[in-house]
Amino acid sequence: MDRPYVVCHMLMSLDGRIDGACMSAACAKAYGQLRTAFDCQATIYGTTTMAGTYSDGLAPASLPTSQTVLPHEDYVVQSDVHNFIVSVDPQGTLGWNDKYIEKKGRPKAHVIEALTEQVSNEYLAYLRRADASYVFAGEDRLDCTLLLSKLKSLFQIDRLMLAGGGQMNWSFAQEDLIDELSLILAPTADGNPAAASLFDRPAFLPEHSPVSFHLNAVEKLDNDGLWLRYTTVKK
Ligand SMILES: NC(=O)c1ccc[n+]([C@@H]2O[C@H](COP(=O)([O-])OP(=O)(O)OC[C@H]3O[C@@H](n4cnc5c(N)ncnc54)[C@H](OP(=O)(O)O)[C@@H]3O)[C@@H](O)[C@H]2O)c1
Repeated sequence: MDRPYVVCHMLMSLDGRIDGACMSAACAKAYGQLRTAFDCQATIYGTTTMAGTYSDGLAPASLPTSQTVLPHEDYVVQSDVHNFIVSVDPQGTLGWNDKYIEKKGRPKAHVIEALTEQVSNEYLAYLRRADASYVFAGEDRLDCTLLLSKLKSLFQIDRLMLAGGGQMNWSFAQEDLIDELSLILAPTADGNPAAASLFDRPAFLPEHSPVSFHLNAVEKLDNDGLWLRYTTVKK
């Protein structure tokens, strides 16, 4: 394959939502524990998820003007760490102090910013100062297929975990790029229509025919959780 194998691994409530009630369910711990079962070298998150949990907030609103015009070319920082967090940031908005993310209970991860051609020269200079790797994938929206081929060829990533949010998950599903779906179903619901769902089509993407999955395994977890494993029915 000229792209990594993609596993979408998510925690979800009975009402299909990935935010709110499921996050505080007793079986939520299993979500983190099962993450390692897939042996992925990288995890990719959408901009909202990155900003809420993984990046150093947002980049300063006004970045210093860069004297040098930086080419729109992929930038690979050398590192001994072969574990990555791929940060979808089409416009270049996320803040970084370092090329690594270190979170309690997670292995140290090398940051790869996934950008589009919309990014400013100042933001590229900002990423270079933080020594963060970046790749270009798309004109103004993410080209998920191109991104995956670059992750494989530039960073030797063979297995990638797609871990939300809903818009990111749908962007990959729509390009037929999810190989496996792993769902931790928490026995709870809050009916909040504003919460993100497992798959949410962003407004900028056209309607698409449904994506179907084949159920391979069901396992009962502690605290009434269920672990559902599917493979995608390929078109
Ligand atoms: N339960 C779980 O397992 C789990 C895991 C992760 C996250 N979450 C939750 O999910 C929620 C966030 O989900 P979300 O769906 O709102 O956000 P998301 O998928 O994290 O990010 C959405 C944003 O990502 C960018 N994006 C997504 N697809 C894109 C594409 N094809 N091209 C360009 N940009 C694209 C857009 O940014 P711009 O608007 O800047 O263009 C879009 O607004 C959070 O509340 C988080 O807590 C839950």
